[in-house]
Amino acid sequence: MAAIVIVGAQWGDEGKGKVIDFLAQQADMVVRHQGGNNAGHTVVVNDQEFKLHLVPSGILYPNTLCVIANGVVIDPAVLLEELHYLQSRGVDVSRLKISSKAHVVMPYHTQLDALNENHRGDQKLGTTLRGIGPAYMDKAARIGIRIADLLHPEELRERLSRALEEKNRVLTRAYGAEPLDFDALYERFLGYGDALRPYVADTSIIINEAIDRGDRVLFEGAQGTMLDIDHGTYPYVTSSHPSAGGAAIGAGIGPTKINRVYGVAKAYTTRVGDGPFPTELRDSLGDSIRERGQEYGTTTGRPRRVGWLDAVVLRHSVRINGLAGLALTRLDVLDGLPALNIATAYRCREGEIKEFPDTASVLRTAEPVYETLPGWDTPIGQARHLRDLPDNARRYIERIEELVGVPVVLVSVGRERASTIVRAEMF
Ligand code: IMP
Repeated sequence: MAAIVIVGAQWGDEGKGKVIDFLAQQADMVVRHQGGNNAGHTVVVNDQEFKLHLVPSGILYPNTLCVIANGVVIDPAVLLEELHYLQSRGVDVSRLKISSKAHVVMPYHTQLDALNENHRGDQKLGTTLRGIGPAYMDKAARIGIRIADLLHPEELRERLSRALEEKNRVLTRAYGAEPLDFDALYERFLGYGDALRPYVADTSIIINEAIDRGDRVLFEGAQGTMLDIDHGTYPYVTSSHPSAGGAAIGAGIGPTKINRVYGVAKAYTTRVGDGPFPTELRDSLGDSIRERGQEYGTTTGRPRRVGWLDAVVLRHSVRINGLAGLALTRLDVLDGLPALNIATAYRCREGEIKEFPDTASVLRTAEPVYETLPGWDTPIGQARHLRDLPDNARRYIERIEELVGVPVVLVSVGRERASTIVRAEMF
């Protein structure tokens, strides 16, 4: 019996899609519990590439039940398009369940995301412009629209008219934009409700029953710990809880039901969007790692910022999430580099610190303290066991384990499912 949570241990884009897809082979159920279509996973199955934003990658296995739980914010147009895309590629999507309590990303959320970012000028957050922040704002402000409302015309009429009155006030008065038309929105979202109806359920019941039956349930985190609204680099964060605690609230299970949490970390670091990034490489080495690793966002196509591995960030992630181990991805991207740096601490005005700073002002002055390890020049993409790796690659992994304090349980050396070294069973 196992319920395990997989989280991003850095700033998102750690390669969770590949790790989750790999583990989904053994899972009976895969659950998304936070974020929305700001996320993007690329999964390669038999040389075929699938790009997913909302539907858990478990959908690519014929017997895995997939759930989009209450903590996710759903843009119905995007979800329906993704379902059509999967169906057109022969994937059976009838095994998907969507929470009736999940909040809906409305067109005014997407519009306000862009307007807010524009208004911030050089203080912009670099959001994905998918309306995620504004949708979570409305959830907290208690004027959100939930999936269940789309199934009930009277409920939708009442809630949408209340929300739209406020949104049109902001759009017209604060931003000088055109107001949105109630009737058009109402009809369109009732239509989405009809299309989604077969998938909608109280998913907390489904998930709890699966756990109680002893099924293997995988909770698929989106984004990463450093983008957590409480524990990340606020305000340069997303609006949900990508850290492990988010799984309990976002899926409607008690924390006691979670058996283990694993973090996914790249063998280096990337970040997309603005905000602090102490180990960032702003030079040609950073550019060359970006090109080798094809570090461009799955969702927005933006070039990712690239830097050295940061053990301070990873230790923070181990603590915030209670990690039992790390899955280390994209180790092959480092092939051929003569030397590799790992940040072991930061040097700040206050002196040397080993914990990730809790304030922006300290973080601003943080300079990484690096330890340098020798690289390897043989390509490692074909390695299937730890013993297949060059000594220096093994040494790099061991050093990460020493610095971070948890074992590396899985190493990914390529995009395909087979390009994976398993060191310990995760389920
Ligand atoms: P938002 O989630 O669109 O509001 O964006 C807030 C911050 O989170 C921005 O820096 C985004 O680039 C970042 N972000 C959101 N989703 C992802 C993701 O899936 N991967 C990496 N960064 C993300």
